[in-house]
Amino acid sequence: YLNYRVPRTRKEIFDTLVKGLQRLEYRGYDSAGVGVDGPRKNDNGDNVNICLIKKRGKVKALDEELYKNDSIDLDIELDTHFGIAHTRWATHGEPNAVNCHPHRSDKNNEFVVIHNGIITNYKELRKYLKSKGYKFESETDTEVIPKLIKYVYDNSENDYVSFSTLVERVIQQLEGAFALVFKSIHFPGEAVATSAIIEHTNKVIYLRDDDIAAVAQGKLSLHRMSRCAGEDPNRAIQTLQMELQQIMKGNFKAFMQKEIFEQPESVFNTMRGRICFETNTVVLGGLKDHLKEIRRCRRLILIGCGTSFHAGVATRQILEELTELPVMVELASDFLDRITPVFRDDVCFFISQSGETADTLMTLRYCQGRGALTVGITNTVGSSISRETDCGVHINAGPEIGVASTKAYTSQFVALTMFGLMMSEDRISLQKRRLEIINGLRMLPGLIKEVLTLDDQIKTIASELYQQRSLLVMGRGYNYATCMEGALKIKEITYMHSEGILAGELKHGPLALIDKHMPVIMIIMKDACYTKCHNALQQVTARQGRPIILCCQDDPEITKNAYKTIELPQTVDCLQGVLSVIPLQLMSFHLAVLRGYDVDCPRNLAKSVTVE
Ligand code: F6R
Repeated sequence: YLNYRVPRTRKEIFDTLVKGLQRLEYRGYDSAGVGVDGPRKNDNGDNVNICLIKKRGKVKALDEELYKNDSIDLDIELDTHFGIAHTRWATHGEPNAVNCHPHRSDKNNEFVVIHNGIITNYKELRKYLKSKGYKFESETDTEVIPKLIKYVYDNSENDYVSFSTLVERVIQQLEGAFALVFKSIHFPGEAVATSAIIEHTNKVIYLRDDDIAAVAQGKLSLHRMSRCAGEDPNRAIQTLQMELQQIMKGNFKAFMQKEIFEQPESVFNTMRGRICFETNTVVLGGLKDHLKEIRRCRRLILIGCGTSFHAGVATRQILEELTELPVMVELASDFLDRITPVFRDDVCFFISQSGETADTLMTLRYCQGRGALTVGITNTVGSSISRETDCGVHINAGPEIGVASTKAYTSQFVALTMFGLMMSEDRISLQKRRLEIINGLRMLPGLIKEVLTLDDQIKTIASELYQQRSLLVMGRGYNYATCMEGALKIKEITYMHSEGILAGELKHGPLALIDKHMPVIMIIMKDACYTKCHNALQQVTARQGRPIILCCQDDPEITKNAYKTIELPQTVDCLQGVLSVIPLQLMSFHLAVLRGYDVDCPRNLAKSVTVE
């Protein structure tokens, strides 16, 4: 609270923190904890003890604990108060109350810390601090931080060292990637680093690496670490466009379901103000100043992880066609492992919903170091990837809370296709094709709505499949990405084994999996691969496979060979993947619900993967 001198009851403070955590829960939900001021006061009337409450499980479990625990007096009023809270996605140490944040310096909770990221040199620091007599209680990398700050505090030569100076001294010893918040009984009413919560304010300041934010006496001050002396610490205050209702579930059972049904609007918002249907032109404002340079490049490299990688796979072919450039699609982690050669005349795209994925961010820095032009395709304004790239496109899909990405994928798909259209504006030979795609884009939101009406049919099919152990998804050409993306959705929220198989590879191995028991979904659309997909279908039915086929409406040839069909409206070949992925998003959702799983909180996963 900036207005921290206004007395508050403990209950008010807890409720604010817990509500904030609930909004962030999709980013990690193994365990949660809060650190708030206790009732003991010093001579100045400041509250000087810190009370930590931590609980394994979801934020709800922490909330219940706060009300259950008799030792916590919720009605006491505190004059000074500064609460911190954290929801964890475990990296070091299993999820339990001890490993969860805030971590503390000692039994008196002199310093407490919450941390996102990873401390890579924690083993050395732990060894050193142990040699100085510190006792560790958790298995986390984070715990070295509160211990280290106490060590620095106890060993400071001057009588008074400010809280932010202490923090800076600690940070100088840390290696890795981290965002931290500190609180201490020695600095009541102060914290170092802050973040905003949409219910309380829509004004935010994005901290950069080596920024330190200190809140004291109700005022916020920013400065740079001393190693960056001379650099401007001023950061613009930005206004979040996000509305509270955008991050509420409404009448839907899960955020994922809500986001699947939002796709007619989110895809429309990706195109809004960027396509002129009268002149058939596409203008992506964030790229226009770099267009000449991009047109001169030697190749395009599309880089991402998980679903964002699949958006690259989905659009590679149309980008090759429209730009007439070689296009590579790369998984960020693998790209770095290979120390892949990158040149000054490469243009590298970093596709990321969150804009914070560590593997993608590291790859961005790697490519920048080699002089390539970097382009961000992100959904999060102000994210690290959108800030650090030379230029980019915001996909404007709106906040995506469901851990399984859905609407971000279709918007990434559309944004990359629009990039291809912008690149090919002057190519006379491509005008007919461009026109076809632009018309296709115009119709897309309406067709997505039509696909969403298949929900009940898909739910019925899911009720036949939900007890199976495995589900294969097969297709090729423009729809191969849908197979991989559909299989990823299925495995991550239903925990069924699922594989996306390129139908062209069937006879090179996967055909051995087919028998009358193995559930198979095939995608066979009316495009250049139709005949080849049909051959794959024959191979499957000849082995008594009983395929469920995603096909175009009115295709009797397919219907007669299928166990079941899900019929989709037809669009331009290169956009068909936007439609064909939706039944698989819905299928994974229904399978997960039928299997009794929490769709928005799949086990072991978190929304933003900020560790390598
Ligand atoms: C799957 C999923 C993940 C993310 C991946 C990259 O549903 O959400 O595979 O796509 O972790 O995340 P971003 O796009 O935020 O870089």
